[in-house]
Amino acid sequence: MTITPARPTGARTLLPITPVTRHGSRSHLTCQYRCGNACDQPVPNPTDNPDFHVVAERALARRSLLKIGAGAGALTVTGLASGAPLAAAAVAGRTAGTWRFEPVAPNNRDRVTVPRGFRADVLISWGDAVEKGAPRFDVDNQTPEAAAKQFGYNNDYVGVLPHPEDRRGGVLVTNHEYTDEQLMFPTGRYDSATIKRIAMASHGMSVVELVRGSKAGSWNVQKLRKTTLNRRLHVGSQFQLVGPAAGDERLRTAADETGREVLGTFNNCAGGLTPWGTVLSGEENFNGYFDASGPLDARYTASYARYGISGTGRGWNEVDERFDLAVEPHEPFRHGWIVELDPYDPDSTPRKHTMLGRMKHEGANVTIADNGKVVVYMGDDERFDYIYRFVSAGTYDPSGTRRARRRNLRLLTTGTLSVARFDGDGLDDERYDGSGTWIPLASDTESFVEGFSVADVLIDTRLAADQVAPTKMDRPEDIEVNPVNGRVYCALTNNANRDTPEETDEANPLFQSQTRPSLGAPLVTQGGNRNGYVLEMTPGNDNHAGRDFFWSLMLVCGDPAAPETYFAGFPKEQVSPISCPDNVAFDPEGNLWISTDGNVLGSNDGLFRVPVRGPERGRVQQFATVPFGAECCGPFIHPDGKSVFLAPQHPGETNGATFETPSSTWPNREGFPRPSVVVVYER
Ligand code: FEO
Ligand code: CA
Ligand code: CA
Repeated sequence: MTITPARPTGARTLLPITPVTRHGSRSHLTCQYRCGNACDQPVPNPTDNPDFHVVAERALARRSLLKIGAGAGALTVTGLASGAPLAAAAVAGRTAGTWRFEPVAPNNRDRVTVPRGFRADVLISWGDAVEKGAPRFDVDNQTPEAAAKQFGYNNDYVGVLPHPEDRRGGVLVTNHEYTDEQLMFPTGRYDSATIKRIAMASHGMSVVELVRGSKAGSWNVQKLRKTTLNRRLHVGSQFQLVGPAAGDERLRTAADETGREVLGTFNNCAGGLTPWGTVLSGEENFNGYFDASGPLDARYTASYARYGISGTGRGWNEVDERFDLAVEPHEPFRHGWIVELDPYDPDSTPRKHTMLGRMKHEGANVTIADNGKVVVYMGDDERFDYIYRFVSAGTYDPSGTRRARRRNLRLLTTGTLSVARFDGDGLDDERYDGSGTWIPLASDTESFVEGFSVADVLIDTRLAADQVAPTKMDRPEDIEVNPVNGRVYCALTNNANRDTPEETDEANPLFQSQTRPSLGAPLVTQGGNRNGYVLEMTPGNDNHAGRDFFWSLMLVCGDPAAPETYFAGFPKEQVSPISCPDNVAFDPEGNLWISTDGNVLGSNDGLFRVPVRGPERGRVQQFATVPFGAECCGPFIHPDGKSVFLAPQHPGETNGATFETPSSTWPNREGFPRPSVVVVYER
């Protein structure tokens, strides 16, 4: 497959190169619970890594077809590498890529709003039974034991894999990023320790069997008695550390002298599917889970600081002392990894891949390079942090046999981890674009960073990357390969702190931007990149495993009326306002779908479809808005193109909201909000 040229053709709007404009809608609750008020903390990256302005030659690249070898080895599905099929030919009839719809207008409704002609069904909600034996959800009688068998809180990543035995079935995998205790628990009903234990059990991941509904595109949760794969992973579940750093001294604790056996995963944000039918899940703001009853271990001052580990957590040390840094200084090193879960084997121990580095992993998405190497793209979601790539040492075996799958399951343990540098080519071309370089940090056998061992690079990845002058980005979130055109798309969500011209570079060009305090209010100028960008990367000659790439900012997000915005040159009067891109997905035609988190234009967050080629390239259309106070997680476009899954997270998470005084009651079955996964399809 030839990767198509990045630049649009024909008469199109040029990028307004004059940066304008400052602030944001995230509630204090979101900031506190999800990322420990990261924005109020010092920027964790203190380096002065420069931006470079180098022009390199644009080249085309090629990529291969992929196959999934899943489950019992009997199932082979073409093109699920990143959760979407590779070719439109694989689908029939109207699909998410060809759906015609009137864009949803910005709004503050407490519901999922989709265009006329579409229907949004709630599939599963916080508290619904996942594992057999789970009691019926009762908000007044929650227990840690029940929560460990029920659907967790704050669903984020969504992936749907083929069912290994049932052709009408599917396997839903979701992350449960964090908990909002003041919205989950009636005031005064539970003691502090019980709240913490329930919260710990409500983090993690869920595996839920689905079955197609009677209407095309609809899905239902499979009856519990018929399931064999359903599973809940939480803070008490067993995980295995694998790869070159496993067993390192820093990964050993009093409870685990091997440095290889970890309990729990938490703050799992986005993720991706592998071609061999597993799910990768990013442990993101793990730093905010550790308190300190005494002084911090001086050996780890630099590391703790670079990851924002301050000793201010969620009080979990009250019920488990491994979350007390003064007692167990190594516990934080056992988190911040990419988790690989095999949903087809409910007895498998999920693994944390040290070869993929330790950072605030937004997620991880896989493609196969032309040479058969497995390539994983990853964003470190922090202001002024970096984009990473892993290339495997071994090659992917697409044969779909059990033996091939066993081999493929080892591919992420050996290879090379690199970090990205973005070199602008100047603004004379009226575009934010240029070339880029993958700078190697370490292979499984060799460190390329002076003064750092392989384990140092993998455990203190941020500190190692700081040494090689990568480009400091505006919060790199989801990064994923478009299976149709082979290009890489990354959501750079925002960065209010990049607010002087001196702090900008061509890949991160704004130090001012325009926001809207509320729906219908005039635009106001604020410092910083408030609405975010969508970055498009085209691999160079050597394909996804090569050293070089080309890049451009395909979208400079915001209100079309704001002068700094840019929609790949598409006429601005014809696009939907979009703010704070977070997650990306692709439909069978290769259109980009973008979900948002933290809209600063007065509207609820939502989901958008954007063509990336032809005359419609850059035509941003809003497909959905999520309930009041929620962010739009997911999304996942089913490979058949008939269903769009999204995961409204933290509905009602607004300043001052409590269980008794919620600002959202979605999905409106009770008087309090319940984060839920939704499937959207044509009526
Ligand atoms: Fe959990 Fe980067 O958002
Ligand atoms: Ca340029
Ligand atoms: Ca996210």
